[in-house]
Amino acid sequence: MQKIFNNKQELARYFGEYLLKATQEKPELYIALSGGSTPKVIFELLSKEYDKTIDWTKIRFFWGDERMVAPTNPESNFGMTREYLFDHVKTRAVNIFRVKGELEPQEALNAYTHSVNDNVPLHNGIPQFDIMLLGLGDDGHTASIFPHQIDLWHSRNICELAQHPESGQVRVSMTGDIINNSKQIFFLVTGENKAEKVDEIINQKGSYKQYPAALVDKNKTEWLLDKEAAHLL
Ligand code: 6PG
Repeated sequence: MQKIFNNKQELARYFGEYLLKATQEKPELYIALSGGSTPKVIFELLSKEYDKTIDWTKIRFFWGDERMVAPTNPESNFGMTREYLFDHVKTRAVNIFRVKGELEPQEALNAYTHSVNDNVPLHNGIPQFDIMLLGLGDDGHTASIFPHQIDLWHSRNICELAQHPESGQVRVSMTGDIINNSKQIFFLVTGENKAEKVDEIINQKGSYKQYPAALVDKNKTEWLLDKEAAHLL
């Protein structure tokens, strides 16, 4: 299912309304955030227009993936979220469960796996998020599961170490079972450079089977697209 918006602000407001309703209906909400650049505009608008209406203290924040860098590094997904969202809304520090990108990769993976298992309610024996936010890479990757490591998607572990195909950067990434165990999944995708992969995956054509993003459970997923990302649909 996809929703197409005239611009990123409209897309962000749609998500803001969803989050507002979800926080009004539930005593606590478990959300896994996406990283990269797309969330910046969305977090910025949420900070400006939903800072007082959403009860941010109810939300438990996790990430679908993280780069193995310190939180102060411009590459850090936690750092980006802090700069564009947490610094502007009233969250509770105890409810923020980041990947410790400054640690050794295996240590960070173990620590994050424990914090997810210990703090997120289980469903089918697997931690279940109320909301899973995902992005889409130009190569069809999602979270940090890249086409050259698509087997990681089928891992029995809820998180794995992954590697960026060009930079070699090490990442901690959630895997298929925990992503697809979520109650609601949103792909947040903007920009013309994503249009080809959006079309291939949604319409199951071309090389879509090689793209990890195509393995996301369609029945639980809403694609939030700007008109540039949707222009081939
Ligand atoms: C990351 C992400 C990744 C991202 C896509 C899209 O840490 O890089 O979580 O999956 O969502 O690469 O990135 P952009 O939004 O920057 O295009």
